[in-house]
Amino acid sequence: MKLSKLFSVSCLAGGALSASWIVPGAVWTDTAGNKIDAHGGNVVQRGDTFYWVGQSASQNEIPLMYSSTDLLNWTPLGAQNSLQYLWRPKIAKPNGSFWIYGQLNRNIQSMVSTQMVGGYKLHGAAVTIPPNGYTYSDTGMFQDTDGSWYILTSADHNIVQINKLNSDGSIGARASQLAAGAYEAPGILKVSGTYYLIVSGKTGWRSNPNKVFSAPSIAGPWTGPSNIAPEAEKTYNSQNTFELTIAGSQATTYIYMGDSWDSKGGPNSNHVWLPIKVDGSKKTLTLDWHAMWKVDVKTGVVSFPKAGRRYEVADAEVIGKRGVVGKVDSESEVVFRNVTGEGGKQWVSFHYAVNNRSAGEAHISINDQQVPTNISSLNSNAGFHNTVPVEIVLEKGDKNVIRFGAMGETGFEVTIDGIEVFDDREEL
Ligand SMILES: *[C@@H]1O[C@H](CO)[C@@H](O)[C@H](O)[C@H]1NC(C)=O
Ligand SMILES: *[C@@H]1O[C@H](CO)[C@@H](O)[C@H](O)[C@H]1NC(C)=O
Ligand SMILES: *[C@@H]1O[C@H](CO)[C@@H](O)[C@H](O)[C@H]1NC(C)=O
Ligand SMILES: *[C@@H]1O[C@H](CO)[C@@H](O)[C@H](O)[C@H]1NC(C)=O
Repeated sequence: MKLSKLFSVSCLAGGALSASWIVPGAVWTDTAGNKIDAHGGNVVQRGDTFYWVGQSASQNEIPLMYSSTDLLNWTPLGAQNSLQYLWRPKIAKPNGSFWIYGQLNRNIQSMVSTQMVGGYKLHGAAVTIPPNGYTYSDTGMFQDTDGSWYILTSADHNIVQINKLNSDGSIGARASQLAAGAYEAPGILKVSGTYYLIVSGKTGWRSNPNKVFSAPSIAGPWTGPSNIAPEAEKTYNSQNTFELTIAGSQATTYIYMGDSWDSKGGPNSNHVWLPIKVDGSKKTLTLDWHAMWKVDVKTGVVSFPKAGRRYEVADAEVIGKRGVVGKVDSESEVVFRNVTGEGGKQWVSFHYAVNNRSAGEAHISINDQQVPTNISSLNSNAGFHNTVPVEIVLEKGDKNVIRFGAMGETGFEVTIDGIEVFDDREEL
């Protein structure tokens, strides 16, 4: 007993804290302490374990895999093949083998293994999409409740097309298509017999308001679209990649999984996962925004952290020419002193608004940090949202100093209310 307690304390000091919340837009780290690097991917459950495959933004889009039993702590399982530029890889299991499908040179490349983790070998050459021999962008994947697998594509780069996967792993017949505009990044969620097809607009790496169509059958007809989030939120600065259903003992929770891309789909891209609210009568879906949340994968119940310790700007020290409480620009700073930390990484929410997201950035320095860190490099929702949780290292005790400042063009201004320091374990 004593030993295990000591061990957990030393873990804390080393910063190897286990992840406690899903924080949309924030940098997420794996159990080895490295940034999770799996984009455009999907998550499948096998027994008690979830497997997540995605393209590596730092290693030329090779497929990287991670596993988790709680959707919070992800163990890195490495590259599943050395093939580069395999975009939006997706795990599927159309027969007794394990498959990964992705986009290679605008065609579908599949790879197959006898096991979930490792041993994936290319299965033939990359192929076009039947029946029209279309090339495509953006692989999506959906397993229906009867066990059938469907690959979703932006066929001919505009028409969202759904093709069944044959039991030999080849791309089968077209199940339906949606020719309602220029859409990509498709995913499907099935709720009470209704199929919901989530798609993104085409704006490159910039986020746009993703849409949903519904149909009584995988064959269509598809009705819609409606927005899955308020238009101005641009899908909370993300693009769809996959929908995961957690059918727990007490609740079924549907999870939107999106990528929060940086300006070029590079290594600073993050993830936005959110619970989905389903309106079965209107046949619409809405993302249920929470800055921090998690789902119990056994019960399906979603929970949120208890309010953290608040440090108000009114009690903080304001440095700078302007000296206006709460208003920060390039020549001023708010200093929160005597902030209590647990000793290690923990979540701290910054509650602030910017007057123009394109004109500058808010930044922070912790304790004796000399060069400030832009908040956007810790959470890509910085500036999009007035509550921005970031994971930072605080020293144990009540002597931490957090400096909050801004840098930008003339006229760029940030208004801060305060900060909120979370005890990682306390849930509501
Ligand atoms: C699945 O299909 C592939 C390709 O046809 C085949 O090589 C493999 O043996 C099949 N796996 C099983 C377990 O049937
Ligand atoms: C911070 O703590 C120091 C003692 O450690 C105390 O002197 C000071 O008054 C405190 N400041 C505030 C703002 O509470
Ligand atoms: C925001 O800043 C950008 C970059 O300087 C500028 O182009 C744009 O006009 C500004 N928007 C508003 C509403 O002031
Ligand atoms: C932080 O943001 C400012 C303002 O947008 C920018 O000028 C600066 O280059 C950024 N710093 C880093 C390290 O990206």
